[in-house]
Amino acid sequence: MPFPKLFTDNNGGILTPYINQECNELKNYLKLEGYEAAKKALAMPAEQVIDEVTRSNLRGLGGAGFPAGRKWSFIPKDSPKPKYLVINADESEPGTCKDKYVILGAAHVLLEGIIIAARAINAHTCYIYIRGEYVEPAQIMQSAIDEAYEAKILGKNVLGTDYALDVYIHRGAGAYICGEETALLESLEGKRGWPRMKPPFPAIEGLFRSPTIVNNVETIAYVPMIMNKGWEWFAKLGTERNGGYRFYSISGHVNRPGVYELPVGTTLRTMLYDYAGGIRGGKKLKAVIPGGSSSPPLRPEEIDVKMDFDSLAAIGSMLGSAGIIAMDEDTCLLDMLMVTTRFYHHESCGQCTPCREGTGWMDKILNRMLRGGGRLEDVNNMPDIANGIMGNTICPLGDAAAMPVLGYFKKFREEFESHAKTGKCHTGEFTSWKPAGKG
Ligand SMILES: Cc1cc2nc3c(=O)[nH]c(=O)nc-3n(C[C@H](O)[C@H](O)[C@H](O)COP(=O)(O)O)c2cc1C
Ligand code: SF4
Repeated sequence: MPFPKLFTDNNGGILTPYINQECNELKNYLKLEGYEAAKKALAMPAEQVIDEVTRSNLRGLGGAGFPAGRKWSFIPKDSPKPKYLVINADESEPGTCKDKYVILGAAHVLLEGIIIAARAINAHTCYIYIRGEYVEPAQIMQSAIDEAYEAKILGKNVLGTDYALDVYIHRGAGAYICGEETALLESLEGKRGWPRMKPPFPAIEGLFRSPTIVNNVETIAYVPMIMNKGWEWFAKLGTERNGGYRFYSISGHVNRPGVYELPVGTTLRTMLYDYAGGIRGGKKLKAVIPGGSSSPPLRPEEIDVKMDFDSLAAIGSMLGSAGIIAMDEDTCLLDMLMVTTRFYHHESCGQCTPCREGTGWMDKILNRMLRGGGRLEDVNNMPDIANGIMGNTICPLGDAAAMPVLGYFKKFREEFESHAKTGKCHTGEFTSWKPAGKG
């Protein structure tokens, strides 16, 4: 089966070799010592498995970057309720398209990670929540699950032990909010995907009100390699407190857009210019989004930053899902922010007033500015509205909508002022893009 091209460094990456050797098929994975790590983990006490992953500094790769092993340790051992493992394959962050590669090329690596994680938290049921649009990944994942049952890798006696594990796929219906872990759990329970208040956190009260761990596809796919090669190996590959490699989805105005598996902490400059081939047409870089559409943009003078969770947080942005979007000198940032804000307005579930109304106001103001009707007060009103949303909502979608607005207006204020003052765009004309639906 042909895969979209993946890129990595001279060392060959960690998951890339498995993807390139089509480890969505059991026979291929077994040739690469597939499921040996799970056997090792099944023979260890659960605490030791958790300890190994904690020390490896594997961070959650779905967005928030919470340390994976620590999250697992929050599952109460004395709870009489069943424990659940849920894999988040909703992959809806604009600019991010990495989990698809893991499933398409390495579904068995993910399944092995699932066995190890389930064993660590004592779960006997795992659900993989796959976004509705991912038809082929869902089919490939299901055929890997079927192969694993057939080979007695899943089921009543996992890999010949007395450990039982069932894995089911659940298809989403295409709502961005269903990637948020508590909305995902609601959706999995058959309800509308509305986020829940936290606490209680899912590790205490998650799926069917039972202790649940929600982890991203990529996070879990790295677990077998950590078990095989040891936590020190993984920890050393990254930066302090940010272990290993990860996938960076690079898009926008670069010469070689694609998904790159690189050591955590490679600089953004290296990624853009050495790996992604620099800016298209030899143009100058104007702005870059480092971690998915909700991460505040960086200016060209900031791209020497190491691409890890802590380094980006230190300069007021975030690594998130590592979806990098480069914008060249001809980009209208008002247009870019309009598209981003419109997305969050459209995807707001409507439960919290600041998010429901605030995203709508920001959408309308940007829309008006974009059509040449900007007012000078907009330049202050926009950050005020965004500040009114920040921290005042049930789930982080509100913050995700506010952060880009705050970032663009802080770092590129002059561009928004110029639009408001002149009613014109420096690119020569206003976008022909027309809003539809809400607002
Ligand atoms: C609006 C919103 C959308 C999200 N979408 C995704 C997603 O598509 N995939 C994902 O893994 N995490 C997503 N997350 C993060 C999850 O809530 C959760 O933190 C993550 O799945 C935990 O896995 P990790 O610890 O392995 O990163 C989203 C969060 C928010 C607020
Ligand atoms: S912040 Fe927005 S998306 Fe999240 S619960 Fe509130 S209204 Fe819904």
